[in-house]
Amino acid sequence: MFYHIKKYIKKILIMLGINISQPVQGLMLIKWGKSFEDAFKKYKSFSYELIYSRVIYSPWVNDENFKKVYNIIKNKKYTLVDEKKCWELWDIINNVKELNGDLIEVGAWRGGTAALIAKKYNLIGGKNTVYICDTFKGVIKATKEDPFYFNGEHANTDIDIVEDLLKNKLALDNYKILKGIFPDETGSQINSNSFIFCHIDVDTYKSAEDIIDFIWDKMVKNSIIVYDDYAGRATPGITKHVNKLVTDRNCQFFYNLNGHGIIVKK
Ligand SMILES: C[S@@+](CC[C@H](N)C(=O)[O-])C[C@H]1O[C@@H](n2cnc3c(N)ncnc32)[C@H](O)[C@@H]1O
Repeated sequence: MFYHIKKYIKKILIMLGINISQPVQGLMLIKWGKSFEDAFKKYKSFSYELIYSRVIYSPWVNDENFKKVYNIIKNKKYTLVDEKKCWELWDIINNVKELNGDLIEVGAWRGGTAALIAKKYNLIGGKNTVYICDTFKGVIKATKEDPFYFNGEHANTDIDIVEDLLKNKLALDNYKILKGIFPDETGSQINSNSFIFCHIDVDTYKSAEDIIDFIWDKMVKNSIIVYDDYAGRATPGITKHVNKLVTDRNCQFFYNLNGHGIIVKK
């Protein structure tokens, strides 16, 4: 019952335009007696424990080009993604240099990770388009697979914020922003049939599934798909989706302690 009360309160707050951050959600979970662990019990085959890494090599510390962009986007100004994952995204773009096709991000929020992708692609001499997709109305398609989402999270953004970041702050012109639900509302605006890179940062199972159903056949051989929310505390739906995907489809997958699900299409 507490769970339903919490869900109802959160819906009202979202309707009033009040953004609920993950830490606040965490406090609410504890307060209402619904812990992450309780929720994970529903995922019978879901293994989890908190992971503390002891590795120390940190290439992002001295990567000056990366830091120029990261210093603009960090601290939730333009991105919710942590520095290690931001650098990993930045670095992975090197691996699609020899491929021909477009790039896409679904789940841009204020454009931070999209800016990293577009800037790095520009620096390595890429000539194709980076499609940047968001509802600009927040998270959608939350189901029972997404116990910590209610729809409407991360609605505190606007297409103009993303445009200003890429065009004015980073002097980029290699992108196209698609506003609306992808692929349902904006898939028809994609002219390309060849993609070399796809970043999916949408938080919910069904949203991720619909995106992959649309984009998979358009991904070229050796192209890379990166999921931001793999293995995260609040996104077991994405972990479930990726684990299913890598058994169902022809691809390579290496478990990654960073919290990225990284897939190479065969
Ligand atoms: C966690 S935020 C993205 C964070 C962003 N990548 C960053 O750099 O911080 C998730 C975003 O996914 C968007 N979203 C979720 N499902 C979507 C879909 N099917 N089509 C378009 N946008 C979607 C939401 O509107 C939200 O802005």
